[in-house]
Amino acid sequence: MDYVDKIKIIKVDITKKQVDIIVNAANKELAGGGGVDGAIHRAAGPEMMDELKEKYKGCSVGEARKTKGYDLQAKLVYHAVGPIWRGGKNNEDELLRYAYSYCYDLMYIDNFKTIAFPAISCGVYNFPLQRAAKIVKEITLEKIKEHKQIKKVIFCLFSDKAFEIYQKTFADVLNN
Ligand code: APR
Repeated sequence: MDYVDKIKIIKVDITKKQVDIIVNAANKELAGGGGVDGAIHRAAGPEMMDELKEKYKGCSVGEARKTKGYDLQAKLVYHAVGPIWRGGKNNEDELLRYAYSYCYDLMYIDNFKTIAFPAISCGVYNFPLQRAAKIVKEITLEKIKEHKQIKKVIFCLFSDKAFEIYQKTFADVLNN
């Protein structure tokens, strides 16, 4: 499998990406907040929150709920809920993996080709970046193999540190 064309790691504000799907790092109330969640809601406009409130009563950790992209350039937003880091012995690894897996499966069902992820759980929720990047890599390679329609997965990192960690973690498959 050639991943070089399918995976991109960039340092960028995710709200600016022109992709089919932007993934949000939401909370289980789907109530909005700071970080990337706040940025996505601001960029999308208030109708996105209206849709969330109208359709859903929150979302379990490890799952995602979708809305339209409104003023974003993306067609849809998947509001994924990652785990809060509580030391690593409370299923955090599995739940983070499920959150990504859930998004890739939704994307397959929706038959979309391009998706952009932030580093879910790696901000306020405190999941260690290095550990998260390893999990993200494993599930991403697995899902690219499984869902042949996936054309591009873009990891949008916000800090130099996160960008470097992702680059190192994916180096063997991306030849950089
Ligand atoms: N584009 C890309 N990445 C961003 C952006 C942005 N515009 N803004 C922040 N980030 C990065 C952060 O630097 C961090 O690495 O997104 C990553 C995830 O951080 P958080 O947004 O804090 O998400 P998370 O750790 O999953 O915590 C979720 O935060 O704001 C609340 O409502 C949200 O309660 C939920 C919690």
